[in-house]
Amino acid sequence: MADIEQEKRLAAARSLDLVQDGMCLGLGSGSTAAIMLELLGERVRAGLQIRGVPTSEAARGLAQQFGIPLTDFDHVDQLHLTIDGADEVDHELNLIKGGGGALLREKIVASFSKRVVIVADSRKRVEQLGNFALPVEVVRFAWKPIVLRVKQLGCAVQLRRQSDGTPFETDEGNFILDCSFDRIADPRRIARVLDAMPGVMEHGLFVDLAHVLVIARGTQVDVYDR
Ligand code: A5P
Repeated sequence: MADIEQEKRLAAARSLDLVQDGMCLGLGSGSTAAIMLELLGERVRAGLQIRGVPTSEAARGLAQQFGIPLTDFDHVDQLHLTIDGADEVDHELNLIKGGGGALLREKIVASFSKRVVIVADSRKRVEQLGNFALPVEVVRFAWKPIVLRVKQLGCAVQLRRQSDGTPFETDEGNFILDCSFDRIADPRRIARVLDAMPGVMEHGLFVDLAHVLVIARGTQVDVYDR
């Protein structure tokens, strides 16, 4: 486990080489992005001038704690760079995201970014997406019949719950369905079907959205640019 923590830190640190003075950044969510925020805060204290749009309330809290200046989409309409984590990444840099439940804002922020950089430890790289259950964010209003529709894609579906048994609620007040496919042979097709499903607010398949992968294995860090 200690090695994985070190890999996260190495990847997060390397990703900051891509940050330049004056940039508007998308600030990712999850434990790897949290390390990136900590290191970014150090650079801000040393004089780096940036502003960030957080991808979740958790990321907002961390950014504030680390003294990172924030902005929002009322004030900017394009970001220079987003740095975020992922749950799985394949060789085309397609991703599964949303393990932390922040997929909706994460995808919006990524879509408004000129460059999207993914920071990851070695466990995240896969030959084919799908071993990690795909998070699908749905409106509460009709989540039960939506489960039946999503199951027609050939996956097992589970409503995400908190440790006290109540449904997990996203920053936008929606529910998450964790969809176990085992493997997703055609991420584009699954993404298209989910995109067209009423009541599905967003899903964790990020296809053609990531530009750069910064991934650590042991003490080595590799950077792949698509
Ligand atoms: C948050 O919703 C996710 O998309 C995270 O980016 C993803 O789960 C990676 O998190 P870790 O860096 O904690 O593995």
